[in-house]
Amino acid sequence: MRINAKTVAQLAELGNEVRPGVSLADHTSLGIGGRTDQVLLRRPETIPQVMRLLAEEGNPHKFLGGGTNVLVDDGELGFIVLHLPASGSAMRVEGNAAYVDAAADLGGTVTFCAKHDLGGLEGLVGVPGSVGGALRMNAGAYGTQIGPHVREVQLYRAASGQIETLCGSDIRFDYRHTSFGPEDVMLRVKLELPSRPYQEILAAIKVSNQKRRSSQPLDQKSAGCVFKNPPGGSAGRLIDQLGLKGHRLGDAMVSDRHANFFVNLGQASCADMLGLIDSVRERVRTAYGIELENEVIVWRN
Ligand code: EPU
Repeated sequence: MRINAKTVAQLAELGNEVRPGVSLADHTSLGIGGRTDQVLLRRPETIPQVMRLLAEEGNPHKFLGGGTNVLVDDGELGFIVLHLPASGSAMRVEGNAAYVDAAADLGGTVTFCAKHDLGGLEGLVGVPGSVGGALRMNAGAYGTQIGPHVREVQLYRAASGQIETLCGSDIRFDYRHTSFGPEDVMLRVKLELPSRPYQEILAAIKVSNQKRRSSQPLDQKSAGCVFKNPPGGSAGRLIDQLGLKGHRLGDAMVSDRHANFFVNLGQASCADMLGLIDSVRERVRTAYGIELENEVIVWRN
């Protein structure tokens, strides 16, 4: 979708930048997605005005963070994307509190906090994506979730059209789900983390990295786990037990390393990936009577 010239000029006046015809295949870890105009929110404080402007012009939009948990449609997209670029001074530590921009890289945040002797996030070190994405999804791995460490979130609230600060206790963090609205935009977070010596944190980080390397296809294009785990179970194990590792549709394939990772072997389209997701869901439903729910977020036109 194209943003008209007048709106492009107004967005620029607010200090933001429009990049025309960006390929979302280049901005997502799956390497899948069509083209659209992208607004780089270089002045996050202008988001309320940006949103009003886009609403007035009837520009449907979606917010793209790190692009590591999203499957985007093919072709010319019917919505524009907004993106918060990472800034140089994205993190600061004060006692046991870490103040981090939502655009910051999650892994970089874990190591930054470790260098300040703040632990508790070790399991998250290999989870790809931004801090904002981790907040929205309540990212978790190896017994760690980000939610319990959140003390404050500054965000654009779609419901009020304003930038607000929420207390951690006012936000619900469930398994891969939170009470943030779908149109809310994370801006900054205050985390409270336990003190731990750097060397100890480093050792724990190494253990998570090793586990991840041995069980996940980190060298291939994917969006991490495709399905949420069903209560008490593992989607990966269920799919594996059905012998579906290596199962393919075009260039979309069930990873032969971890069956809940679906990889793009090169030229997979969104249609290939959705077809594969549906066929695996169907096989699991038929075999076990379990309806797997997507963890990956799908953006259809
Ligand atoms: N398993 C298999 N075959 C497979 C994959 C897994 O038999 O192909 C078995 C494993 O051997 C293990 C069990 O299933 O006994 C669980 O596997 P794993 O430890 O890999 O955990 P998971 O439940 O499959 C979850 C998260 C991952 C996270 C890991 C590590 C979900 C959907 N997945 O996977 O998160 O990295 O635990 O904590 O909650 C993601 O969110 O995108 C993601 C990848």
